[in-house]
Amino acid sequence: MISQADLERSLDHAVHSVDFGGHLTKHHSGKVRDIFVVDDHRLLFVTSDRLSVFDRVIGSVPFKGQVLSGISNWWMERITDIVPHHLLAVPHPSCVIAKKCRPLPIEVIVRGYLTGASPTSIWTAYEGGGRRYCGHDLPDGLTRHQPLPQPLLTPTTKGDVGAHDELISREEIIEQGLVPAELYDRIQTVAIELYRRGAEQAARSGLLLADTKYEFGLDEEGTLTLIDEIHTPDSSRYWFAEDYRSRVDAGLEPRGLDKDYVRNYMKSQGFVGNGEAPPLPADIRMEAARRYISLYELLTGATFNPDFSSLEITVLDHLR
Ligand SMILES: Nc1ncnc2c1ncn2[C@@H]1O[C@H](COP(=O)(O)OP(=O)(O)O)[C@@H](O)[C@H]1O
Ligand SMILES: [Mg+2]
Repeated sequence: MISQADLERSLDHAVHSVDFGGHLTKHHSGKVRDIFVVDDHRLLFVTSDRLSVFDRVIGSVPFKGQVLSGISNWWMERITDIVPHHLLAVPHPSCVIAKKCRPLPIEVIVRGYLTGASPTSIWTAYEGGGRRYCGHDLPDGLTRHQPLPQPLLTPTTKGDVGAHDELISREEIIEQGLVPAELYDRIQTVAIELYRRGAEQAARSGLLLADTKYEFGLDEEGTLTLIDEIHTPDSSRYWFAEDYRSRVDAGLEPRGLDKDYVRNYMKSQGFVGNGEAPPLPADIRMEAARRYISLYELLTGATFNPDFSSLEITVLDHLR
């Protein structure tokens, strides 16, 4: 675990925005990641330390980018026998250079459990009487947070900025020409295998992988390729296995690895997403960093080595 001295030192090093001084063109900025063009064939993904709660970026947590990027890279190495991935190089712990692919216009969600709370979640649909979800038939008699009879692939469309992703079935995807049938079926097989691998490995850390999202693209040769990130706490729902059963039996939510810590702090300050966010104090940022780091260590079984170098300088050196 990281030392108190390193944590204090890190407070001024958190990466909020990234500036390559005109050396690299920006391709896209998400809430957490910034993507730059390296050349016609490669993209640079920088996972910043920005933290979003209630859909708003409210500050930064030191090393969060290194942790999230590190977790994704760790997983990428462990799935190469299932599908090729986009990762080419890791010039800095929070940055990856990836093969530029043509992203497919669907997000591929695999769900192992009947859970969720959003209006489009499988549990919300089921509770409302729905027994068909993204083209899958669901049996009667299932209860909240319980494992599904088998993991289900429940795709959504990829909404443009601001638009919401919508649930869609295999039939609709093929009918609308979003992905050809043969490719979709290959994605289905691959995604379920990735999920099984993820769940199996997570179990070794005492975790349940409840659900997760994958993105796929086609590379220049037209080969199906895993892109974006994999099995990070941002793209996945993890639960602690240890008290899963007792909590669900008691009508409680399973204990998850999520942003509850900072979210609860913001709530205690009266912030639930509207108006100006109150500042994140140093001790909250350090505790959040500690939690992200222990997550990295729990999942990977490796010790987290904080990197204090400037990512801009390190990346530009790498590319020279
Ligand atoms: N190898 C890749 N080639 C091309 N695009 C990619 C690749 N990997 C990920 N992407 C795309 O980059 C974008 C990443 O955006 P992201 O940081 O997740 O922000 P948001 O999803 O909030 O817009 C997504 O649209 C994803 O499909
Ligand atoms: Mg995204």
